[in-house]
Amino acid sequence: MRLVSLSMLRPDMVLAKAIYYKDCLVLREGLSDLPRFAKSLRNLGIEYVYVSDPKSDGIVIPDAISEETRVNCKKILRQTIDDFETKTVVDISEMDGTINNIIDEILANPDVQISLNDISASDEYTFSHSVSTTVYSLLIAKDLGYNRQMLEKLAAGTLLHDFGKVLIDKKILNKKGVLSPEELEHVKQHTTLGYELLKKCPNLTELSRIIALQHHERMDGSGYPGGHMAGELHEFARIVAIADVYDALISDRCYRRKWSCNNAVNYLVEHAETKFDLKLVSILIKQIAIYPNGSMVRLSTNAMGIVKEQNKNFPLRPVIRVITNEKGNDIVPFELDLMKVLSITIMESELEMESLDKI
Ligand SMILES: [Fe+2]
Repeated sequence: MRLVSLSMLRPDMVLAKAIYYKDCLVLREGLSDLPRFAKSLRNLGIEYVYVSDPKSDGIVIPDAISEETRVNCKKILRQTIDDFETKTVVDISEMDGTINNIIDEILANPDVQISLNDISASDEYTFSHSVSTTVYSLLIAKDLGYNRQMLEKLAAGTLLHDFGKVLIDKKILNKKGVLSPEELEHVKQHTTLGYELLKKCPNLTELSRIIALQHHERMDGSGYPGGHMAGELHEFARIVAIADVYDALISDRCYRRKWSCNNAVNYLVEHAETKFDLKLVSILIKQIAIYPNGSMVRLSTNAMGIVKEQNKNFPLRPVIRVITNEKGNDIVPFELDLMKVLSITIMESELEMESLDKI
């Protein structure tokens, strides 16, 4: 399996992960002749798909939670957001089952690597982002040794952390260009509005609500809405701040294309200690596959390959399935373990390359 952009779809590729749109199955796993669906997928705001093809045969991309749990959680979030818009009291007990499933799966997976990116349609971003941010937050909290009750409170608050956006003007939220200062101030209100909105849930604790209020605060006081410093920020908010930014960077947004995992990790490291909690950043990035399984890379020899598997504790030196020679011509694929051939390094990953469409 590998992740490819729509422009890379070829007739010999088979869909490796089903595509859903608003809870509906759009394309089922195993579908072939994919280029004919490219235009429709682009119209839905989907730019990447997971495929199987001879070049990626046998490559497994692990995920921290199952596809079933991810889809189910997004479905419940969509129902919950409707309740927030129409009811004065919102019962979120329906979320308990999905929260327990996410926590169970994360706790059962001792060596999880953050690898698989949710490639939902662009207008599904709020929901896919909520689930992914929750998964990353729980992985940090698990490493910190949180007990079950605290994991549940963290998950509930993280799943709802951006729900204040229901009260923000959709035209501004989906604007492609740069926001004006007034528009930016309006968007920033999703934190305070979200915190107040979550008071509609009698079964949500203050600990969970604080995430909505503080997830854009930064350790150096440069965040919003309060401009609070590190000591005033709850650990839940410091965790979610990191998970939220990481997922936003590696996702396509209406105003920019997604970043590579490598660049997103570099961003977190660059701002650790100033904007983010250094200890928490370290916990997250040690679990991130910098070059995820299934992603295309260019080697220092100029040959191209697909990442086949990770070498534990050496995220920059995975095992590569080399598929082209240094001139870009197809070759009989062979495996290259970068831990065994130290003279060869990865120069760039797929999202940093311009010429990838040729492969
Ligand atoms: Fe937010």
